[in-house]
Amino acid sequence: MLSKELKKTFLEKKDLFTDILGQDNIKHQIKSALLMNRHIIIVGPPGIGKTTLAKNIAKLLPEGLKNFVRVQGSPDLTAEDLLGDINPIKALKYGPLSLEAFQKGKIFKADKGILFFDEINRCPEKLQNALLQVLEEGKATIGSYDVDFNIDFIFIGTMNPEDSSTERLSDVLLDRFDLIYMGYPETIEIEKKIILEKGEKLEVNFPEKLLHSAVHFVRLLREDEKLEKKPSVRASLGLYERAQSNALLQGRKTVKFEDIEEAVISVLAHRIQLKPSVKYLKDPSEFIREEFKKFLESAQELNERGEYR
Ligand SMILES: Nc1ncnc2c1ncn2[C@@H]1O[C@H](COP(=O)(O)OP(=O)(O)O)[C@@H](O)[C@H]1O
Ligand SMILES: [Mg+2]
Repeated sequence: MLSKELKKTFLEKKDLFTDILGQDNIKHQIKSALLMNRHIIIVGPPGIGKTTLAKNIAKLLPEGLKNFVRVQGSPDLTAEDLLGDINPIKALKYGPLSLEAFQKGKIFKADKGILFFDEINRCPEKLQNALLQVLEEGKATIGSYDVDFNIDFIFIGTMNPEDSSTERLSDVLLDRFDLIYMGYPETIEIEKKIILEKGEKLEVNFPEKLLHSAVHFVRLLREDEKLEKKPSVRASLGLYERAQSNALLQGRKTVKFEDIEEAVISVLAHRIQLKPSVKYLKDPSEFIREEFKKFLESAQELNERGEYR
């Protein structure tokens, strides 16, 4: 059983999920769930490292047990893609209902390992039902086939509950999982570290105070009550990268505040959504432009700006 193999690793080393900075509580919960072979879904908004974290788990699997299958949830994913289907050529040879004619789907490759289902709530209800049956009975029905699986795996899913293009997961399906709620980076220091570690770099200098301001602005937007969709870590990364390009295109070796300013609309406007009460008065670009102006005018930021202009 996978949990036995993982137990040794979990008890030996300290930070195992090194691809993700911070999120200690989440990492703890994942270890605690996996030690008991419990299926989990990591829940949270986009761009906070859910996929990265789940992929990090794959690296912990002991040698010889590297069965890690990734499935990307999408509306056109079918139960056949996941579970298997009839191979027409073999069906002609062995007969349409013979087990030889059944071609195993992706899920079988996860046996004794992990089935990683990214954005599970983006897949159709029919697939969810097929999955439920597998989790519950180790069995699946495909067309006229009743396939016995005897398949042993840990299920790790991710989902963004606010994704509007999704199916709600049924209560019976949710009842098979423990949910782990993940949020934005805990502190601005962690977020800056993520940016410096993961962001692309050009041959320009990015003053620490400017980086701080860019990330601070994104974090203030996240706290803004007028927003129903908030900018993610990808937004902070975007500001960091685009400000560098802007500086370089200006022929400068150092990023200035105006390089960030030039990037805010293109990086942020589509990444936010205003609450209905505000939406009809302002569009997101206008909102970002105004908020950034206010941000600049705030005393502290003016101070920083003065230093770099
Ligand atoms: N806590 C974190 N530590 C390290 N990288 C992070 C963190 N949060 C977000 N990222 C980075 O943000 C980007 C988006 O991460 P991803 O795993 O695709 O997010 P999600 O699946 O939640 O949409 C990646 O470049 C990832 O490395
Ligand atoms: Mg993801």
